[in-house]
Amino acid sequence: MKKNWFEEKIKKFSSIGGYKKPELVEDSVKLDSNENYVIPKQFQSDIISSAKKNSDIREYPLGGVERLIDSISKFIKIPSSMIGVGNGSDQILDLILSNFASKQTKVLTSNPTFGFFEERCKLYNIPLIAIPFSDNMKLDVKDFLKQKKNADILYLDSPNNPTGFQFTKIELQKLVKSFSGLVIIDEAYGEFSEYSLSSMVKTQSNLIVVQTLSKSFGLAGLRLGYFIASKKFTETFMNILQYPYPVSTITIESGIQALEKSKLMKDTIDNIKIERKRIIETLKTFDAFEVFDSKANFVLFDAHSAYKRVYSALAEQGISIRKLGKIGNHDGCLRVTIGTKEMNSKFLLAIRDLLG
Ligand SMILES: Cc1ncc(COP(=O)(O)O)c(C=O)c1O
Repeated sequence: MKKNWFEEKIKKFSSIGGYKKPELVEDSVKLDSNENYVIPKQFQSDIISSAKKNSDIREYPLGGVERLIDSISKFIKIPSSMIGVGNGSDQILDLILSNFASKQTKVLTSNPTFGFFEERCKLYNIPLIAIPFSDNMKLDVKDFLKQKKNADILYLDSPNNPTGFQFTKIELQKLVKSFSGLVIIDEAYGEFSEYSLSSMVKTQSNLIVVQTLSKSFGLAGLRLGYFIASKKFTETFMNILQYPYPVSTITIESGIQALEKSKLMKDTIDNIKIERKRIIETLKTFDAFEVFDSKANFVLFDAHSAYKRVYSALAEQGISIRKLGKIGNHDGCLRVTIGTKEMNSKFLLAIRDLLG
């Protein structure tokens, strides 16, 4: 080993670039990170104060993960032995990639796909076969079926970030059934869509479905993700790849409390879906944008050559959305998260003033 191998390794990592976090705009109407502000702040005060009562952080959380998994099991109606948890679904995806994928395993996914996932593949030199979206931001399942023999891993975020696209359940089931390698279906936005593939895990031993409390429960800062998979994979993941205490006592206790209040979560999702429709319809009326359908808690639109101007004008008014630029043949893509009715109205009014 060369003497300066450590410096060289750091230099190599620096050249990768890393994940681009959204710009931090202080006190903004924050519609840039697909968070959930519709769930009231009181919800987190309630769960954290109950969690505090049940916690003693002088101790390691012995047995805590098991109790949390039992709560998730009750919530999604899947046996505990098929559920594992992680520090956000990011960590779960990372552990799967770092342990199961390599230079030799090709990953079949879409272009674009979830940014973090793509960056981790770059970091581990995992080659991608990335199927582009069509001009109307849809994917054709036939393109994936054609490539299935050339890939070892299939990764799809369902719905997709940043387009909001989701295959029909029948199409995705067909694709998953036909794929013989490892299948990872990332349902970070699953609750905003029409279906989940989680029950398919019972019959499909090569399938891992990843979900999170970050979006639906509005708990992005808690960092609690989970997966549903075969008993064998779950045991290996929880006992060999990730142990002994993957999430903190506060996360465990808050997660259990949150899952008990899932009715509130479901109500906010209904609300977000209504607002999603309003944003899509209103943006379409301006005739300045191409607006894409979405099954998630955000909407993608192409503002063409005006996208930088739209993004900056909103930022000047304290409204932060995500600037994405070129996606396929669309040059000026912007992504806006569905916020509260008030936040969304501020966004729509600012757009109207800008175009008016
Ligand atoms: C598709 C997708 N998967 C996973 C995540 C990460 O979720 P978590 O907060 O559970 O790490 C995100 C967050 O933006 C996402 O868009």
